[in-house]
Amino acid sequence: MTVWSPESWRSKPGKQLPTYPDMDKLYWVESELAKRPPLVFAGEVRRLKSQLANVSAGQAFLLQGGDCAESFKEFSAETVRDTFRVLLQMAVVMTFASAKPVVKVGRIAGQFAKPRSSDSETIDGVTLPSYRGDSVNDMAFTEEARVPDPERLVRAYDQSAATLNLLRALASGGYADLHNVHQWTLDFLAGSPAGERYQEYADRIGEALAFMRACGVTPDGAPSLEGVDFFTSHEALHLPFEQAMTRMESNSGRWYDTSAHLLWIGDRTRQPDHAHVEFMRGLENPIGLKCGPTLDPDELIRLIDVLNPRDEAGRLILYVRMGADKVADGLLPLVRKVQSEGRNVIWSCDPMHGNTHKAANGYKTRDFDKVLSELRTFIEVLRAEDAEPGGVHFEMTGQDVTECVGGAGHLSEADLSSRYHTHCDPRLNADQALEMAFQISDALKPAQGLKRSVVAAE
Ligand code: TRP
Ligand code: MN
Repeated sequence: MTVWSPESWRSKPGKQLPTYPDMDKLYWVESELAKRPPLVFAGEVRRLKSQLANVSAGQAFLLQGGDCAESFKEFSAETVRDTFRVLLQMAVVMTFASAKPVVKVGRIAGQFAKPRSSDSETIDGVTLPSYRGDSVNDMAFTEEARVPDPERLVRAYDQSAATLNLLRALASGGYADLHNVHQWTLDFLAGSPAGERYQEYADRIGEALAFMRACGVTPDGAPSLEGVDFFTSHEALHLPFEQAMTRMESNSGRWYDTSAHLLWIGDRTRQPDHAHVEFMRGLENPIGLKCGPTLDPDELIRLIDVLNPRDEAGRLILYVRMGADKVADGLLPLVRKVQSEGRNVIWSCDPMHGNTHKAANGYKTRDFDKVLSELRTFIEVLRAEDAEPGGVHFEMTGQDVTECVGGAGHLSEADLSSRYHTHCDPRLNADQALEMAFQISDALKPAQGLKRSVVAAE
């Protein structure tokens, strides 16, 4: 294989990269970004990797979620906090139910660039370049808005920095203290079935904490009660931006993409000899690979060879995103191949991207039951092959939006128009996301019971 450098991707074909009319401006922005402080630090990235190594060993679970696409317009302290707090609620439910640590990763503070199925979009006979995310162009359907503008990358960086600053404060400044478990409930959750079930869990956790305090276990002795490790992630699609954020750690000589702790490669840009795979292979960060229904098992092994040549634990996450109807047939050959080759990977389920459909009224939506069905099949297939269902990846928000149908709130297609705010794909709302956490916990349980009874019989 050829020598890697942060720019070696430039000599390879790259899909989904925007075409800028003003290249000089792009180069200027790249050099500006390269001077900006890193958003995350090498030590944090290593910490995530070691937590992910626990996931690959079946001793922890990965929870990842956030907007399909962050936007400049929807940015506020409240939206960031609300996404964070629903993730905390989900994590608490899953930790309590599984008695395993949950590794918490936001799809946040950098999720701005989007791959598109078509380079252009036609509405009423007018054809314009596709919207590629707020770091590239504007969603408005005008010629001017759709021109890619490099300065948007600086704005995306600034918003990511501000978002991360808030997330760090929320994670370690007291808000995420387990003693606040009752306070994370959002107002509109209070009356819902998931909200009520959460209340029960919170009561039990409150009791457990009081009991532990009485036994002498206080936050002084157990500081992990007072906060969480919270990591960031996004799709590493915009390679000029990612390269500008890639820095060498001076004492080790190793390269880290400091735009986020965890980065992934999309299903459309995973060609082994193309630019995105080339860029990612040289980084130290944990990396994800989206695995859609067209991925061939031999191709997957080729990709694993390139992306995780040292077979490092916690390095590579495979995000299965097949669709509820395809996942059984699509996943099985992949798992068998990876198991027979003995590769160290984390299997995580992205039950969102294979389950998108157009509602009768034209809204792009997802059905809660289909999402859940893909998740359950994912768990079953892996369990049957003696592999570990290691994580989940959701497009979700802490807001009370109406973008996905179904769930205990019985959101219908007719409801979609009331609060449909996404800048790209439909997200689970806070209630649906919390309900999903309970459902995952339930789905993950049976086999644990089985294992325990096997142990007891020995
Ligand atoms: N630090 C532990 C953890 O992250 C316990 C914890 C503190 C926690 N606050 C939390 C767990 C909020 C879930 C949610 O697991
Ligand atoms: Mn999406």
